[in-house]
Amino acid sequence: MSDAFAARASEWDANPVRAAMHRAFYELVLRTAEENGGLDGRSVLEFGCGTGALGLRLAGHGARLTFVDTSPAMLEVLRGKLELEGAPRATVLEGDIARLSVGTASQDLAVTLMALHHVPDIVPMLARLRSLLRPGGLLLAGDLFTEDGSFHADGSAAHNGFDPEAMRAMCGEAGFAVRRLLPFHVLRRPDATGTMREYPLFFLAASPA
Ligand SMILES: C[S@@+](CC[C@H](N)C(=O)[O-])C[C@H]1O[C@@H](n2cnc3c(N)ncnc32)[C@H](O)[C@@H]1O
Repeated sequence: MSDAFAARASEWDANPVRAAMHRAFYELVLRTAEENGGLDGRSVLEFGCGTGALGLRLAGHGARLTFVDTSPAMLEVLRGKLELEGAPRATVLEGDIARLSVGTASQDLAVTLMALHHVPDIVPMLARLRSLLRPGGLLLAGDLFTEDGSFHADGSAAHNGFDPEAMRAMCGEAGFAVRRLLPFHVLRRPDATGTMREYPLFFLAASPA
């Protein structure tokens, strides 16, 4: 399978617009986790982890991370960071989570940022994440609100963001109760024509129903 992120992986973290998004999502995830018992000793699965910009910060609070991604290039960057940081309580899984062996009801938190819009069938993916959560666990997701398709002008995404009501309905179908769905950040970047654009992102917190 070709790696759609191969050309960008080594420069992924250097983009300041992306770094600001990572920071904003991390702060919200941390606050939400703290409201729900904290991160120390908790098992956290990051789906579509890329270079680990989020999960490595969570590991810094004592969480045991399982990183999952389909991109060998993104995971190579992550593995390099893990070697440098010597983060012993992390597992890295390469592949589609639908086919990877992760224990049912084994995770306290599932987190994901900007990965769901790459997944064609959202409900089965949400149901899979739901199956990995312990009772009382949480899914914390960040992604694009519906946009006009200019975010991925090359057509590489499966969805041009998500309508919040449609996302609520898909969560319900997958066995989640939505606790929060709110705007949390705006990505500002030029589109393919060079025009500066704003892409609002949502934060979703959901627990097994
Ligand atoms: C836009 S990147 C976001 C990476 C990271 N979460 C971040 O915010 O920097 C989307 C990531 O999701 C991964 N991805 C897409 N579909 C996936 C799937 N079915 N299973 C696992 N990872 C997937 C891609 O390889 C890519 O690393």
